[in-house]
Amino acid sequence: MTANHSNIDINESVPVQEPERQRYFMAKCRELVQRRERELGRKLTFHDQTFGCQMNFKDSEKLNGILEEIGYVPTENEEADFVYYNTCTVRENANIRVYGRLGTLKTYKKKNPDMVIAMCGCMMQEEEEVQKVRDVFTFVDIVFGTHNIFKLAELLYEALRSKKRIFDVWEGTDMIIEDLPSDRKFNFKAGVNIMFGCNNFCSYCIVPYVRGRERSRRPEDIVAEVEKLAAEGVVEVMLLGQNVNSYGKNLEEPVSFAKLLQMVEKVDGIERIRFMTSHPKDLSDELIEVMAASDKICRHLHLPVQSGSSRILKLMNRKYTKEQYLTLVEKLRAAMPDLSLTTDIIVGFPGETEEDFQETLDIVRKAQYDSAFTFIYSKRSGTPAAKMENQVPEDVVHDRFDRLLKVVNQVAKERNARLRGRTELVLAESIDEKDASMITGRLSNNNVVHFTADPSVIGKIVPVVLEEAKGFYYLGRLSNG
Ligand code: SAH
Ligand code: SF4
Ligand code: F3S
Repeated sequence: MTANHSNIDINESVPVQEPERQRYFMAKCRELVQRRERELGRKLTFHDQTFGCQMNFKDSEKLNGILEEIGYVPTENEEADFVYYNTCTVRENANIRVYGRLGTLKTYKKKNPDMVIAMCGCMMQEEEEVQKVRDVFTFVDIVFGTHNIFKLAELLYEALRSKKRIFDVWEGTDMIIEDLPSDRKFNFKAGVNIMFGCNNFCSYCIVPYVRGRERSRRPEDIVAEVEKLAAEGVVEVMLLGQNVNSYGKNLEEPVSFAKLLQMVEKVDGIERIRFMTSHPKDLSDELIEVMAASDKICRHLHLPVQSGSSRILKLMNRKYTKEQYLTLVEKLRAAMPDLSLTTDIIVGFPGETEEDFQETLDIVRKAQYDSAFTFIYSKRSGTPAAKMENQVPEDVVHDRFDRLLKVVNQVAKERNARLRGRTELVLAESIDEKDASMITGRLSNNNVVHFTADPSVIGKIVPVVLEEAKGFYYLGRLSNG
């Protein structure tokens, strides 16, 4: 963190402009936190529980950056002075998990009545959920949504000062606030938001309702952030958006995603560029060319297919057919034979027949996915699919889900064996969770390898011999030449 604390005068009137306004509230909170530290004779701590996708994890890094700026120190322990849950609502079970956990916080708060509890994220963009927190989870102090995470310091100050519950959820926003602190989980790799929201309205999906309309960051702001990350030692960036292929369309001066990639490629020190997620309908020939010609853009594409049945894809409002998807896969494979392809699949969309499901099995075999996230369709109220008739019975869905998983695993296993014996460049990421004498790293194509090496390689890109293929990962050793 490089902010200069001394030039903020907390007795001045409150700034109207962002991010100055939030800097002001961070200073105000810092004063309160320091006072409390002196009373308690210890530092105040914070803890986060983050659910859902990369966007949420990125948001939590921003929230943590603000909390650290205020003077809280992170802890793994949920019995902290400030705890927040950053929630996901993409499927029903995500919600159930959150409420299940939340109960335990009540007992911690009984022990430490000064504990502050906050809820944010996608679930809090839904009125019924906010109402539930208001009525049932009365020990939650602060509720905010996905559009105003930048405001955490202001909301926290208000909560600490007034000792009242604060609810601040926005329906939408055009604002993109730059230059606020962020606390990165890794020193050597980082996610970078390139856009927010989604305009696609796939008929099953709640994301456009809880994340709002699509907004792209300006390319110069993105490049500046990547340059700063590179200066701090980051070698791999992951560009994040719900549909990166439509990046830049609504900017004052439109820029394609492929052009943005070329700008990011020019940043010295960045050795690997990843991105997610790609919507098949917007994946351009220009992007394929730029990827194929690049040494830095990783050989991995996450290209959610959702279903193999053109009929279901139409009902899903995905705007491509099975044939168009497979043609795209062929083009990608021709341009990049070493590309690894992964996907998302939903089973049991309303009206899905056994025939439709067979088409899904068929596309998995034809597209030859390296891996796939498979989901059971979950009805989200407010989405068009929730009102569709012919919801598929649970037992039928579970049976299809199991059959799909078998095929996905079979294809993935065959694919995964193909690099055995080769030496590949690997970004060493961490000490192996199961065997502390080994290092876990990732290939350009996103495959995982566990290999014997000294922990000093972590954060570096090193050549590794892939000695054994174990289904979903490799075992290897550092190459000596
Ligand atoms: N923007 C990304 C996906 C974001 S959500 C994209 O379009 O590819 C991640 C995945 O969750 C989706 O790809 C989809 O497979 C799954 N998903 C979304 N809504 C769902 C629902 N209602 N039920 C089951 N799975 C769902
Ligand atoms: Fe949801 Fe579709 Fe947008 Fe992805 S592209 S976030 S699945 S609406
Ligand atoms: Fe979940 Fe929100 Fe992401 S609903 S999947 S956390 S955009």
